[in-house]
This record gives sequence, structure tokens and C-alpha cells, in this order.
Amino acid sequence: MKIIAHRGYSAKYPENTLTAFRAAAKLPIYGVEFDVHLTKDHQVVVIHDESIDRTSNGIGFVKDMTLEELRRYDYGSWFSKEYTGEVIPTLSEVLAVFCHTNQRINIELKSDIFSYEGLEKLVLQEVESFGMMDQVIISSFNHEMVQRVAKLAPDVENAALFANVVLNLNEYQKIIPAKALHVSLPSAVRQPVQEAILKDSLVRVYTVNEIKYADVLLKIGVDAIFTDEPEMMMEYILNKV
Ligand code: G3P
Ligand code: MG
Repeated sequence: MKIIAHRGYSAKYPENTLTAFRAAAKLPIYGVEFDVHLTKDHQVVVIHDESIDRTSNGIGFVKDMTLEELRRYDYGSWFSKEYTGEVIPTLSEVLAVFCHTNQRINIELKSDIFSYEGLEKLVLQEVESFGMMDQVIISSFNHEMVQRVAKLAPDVENAALFANVVLNLNEYQKIIPAKALHVSLPSAVRQPVQEAILKDSLVRVYTVNEIKYADVLLKIGVDAIFTDEPEMMMEYILNKV
């Protein structure tokens, strides 16, 4: 079972910051996951929420601010004073951290509340400019976006994210078409996901921060887990083999 650092090494460092990504890049793990949104001036930035309220000392929606405006705020001190001065990273800055590693990079396209016109294309262009088309997995809860990624870049690995269970995942996967299924921890143990695994679907599970759940998923045969605690999970896997 592979390990993917969720939002970088986010248990130890402020999520989706360069510090969290540099720490994840040093670990011998399968990959890293992060979330992207679009700024007012069409820059792809790495942050989880559509607003900066929770993870910075500012307030407002990413879509209403330019990159320069977003850079005025601090994205580390909400986590700990030690990380004061972290800025919101651009997609390019994060790709630069990983382009010389062999880690898989899962870029999650966000559009839970706002739809970001052209986000798929901009992300693919940046990934291509780094020569990382084979290194990325592009996922979204917005399956229209996954469909657009599949159409724009059929060879790039894409994944459909699910918070809840769909009854027939294999059929649904064919419609998108999605190469992998990224499912929530509670849905991973349900029948439709078990059936998808038996039919050889690539299933990855978020967010797994406790060994007792990793144990269940290892037995089920999921491909990978997203975790805020990559070192703890590495140790767990090492002790298993
Ligand atoms: O991509 C897996 C996981 O990150 C999905 O949920 O809310 O943490 O972005 P969330
Ligand atoms: Mg995510």
C-alpha cells in the first residue's frame, strides 16, 4: 500500500505550503497531494479552501484577489508562530520542488463552490512546461472537470474523487472516463468500493491518519492512502513487511 502525503506533510507543517512540500519531497514515499484554485488574475495557486480565512491571517476568496494581493498575507502563523512568513505557493513553485524527485504528484482541482473557467487547461500547460505529464495524477470532486482533463490529455492519469458511495463505480468510471477512484475512508469499506477493487480499479483512500484504519485498508487491497502523517504510516508499512 502506497503512501501519499496529503496537502504536503500537513501534520507537522502548515498544509499546502512550500515548507510542507519540501518535507514531503525528502521522504521515500509514493507521492504528494495538494489542492489548486484560480486567482482573479488567472494564476493557479495551491490552497485547500476557496477562501484564505482558515489558513492565513487574511480574509476573502481566492478568486477575488490577484496573486500579488494574496501574497500580502501570512499562511504559516495560523499553524504555529514558528512558520510565520509562509506565502501562498503557485502551482509552478510546487512543481519545481518535485520535478527532480520520482514522487507522483496528485493535483486536486477544486471547484466546490465556484467554477474556475479554464483551470484544467492552465494546470495541464504548467505541468507540461515542467515535463511532468507522466508524473501527475489530476483529480477532482467535480467530475465534469475530470471529463475535461480526460479529453484534453487522454494519457495523463486522472482520478474521480468521491465523498459518498456510488452504487456501481466501475460503470460510472467508464462514463467519465476516470483512470482511478479516490474515495473517502468511510466509503472505502462499503460494498461498491470492494467490488471496484475486485474488478481491478485503482482505489486510493483519503484521509487516513490512524494505524487502525490503515490496517483495514491494507487488508482490503487499496492502492494508496492519503495521509497527513506520512512518516508514521511509513513506519507502519515497514513493520508490516
Ligand atoms: O484528494 C484527496 C483529498 O484531499 C480530498 O479531500 O478535502 O482534503 O481536499 P480534501
Ligand atoms: Mg485535497
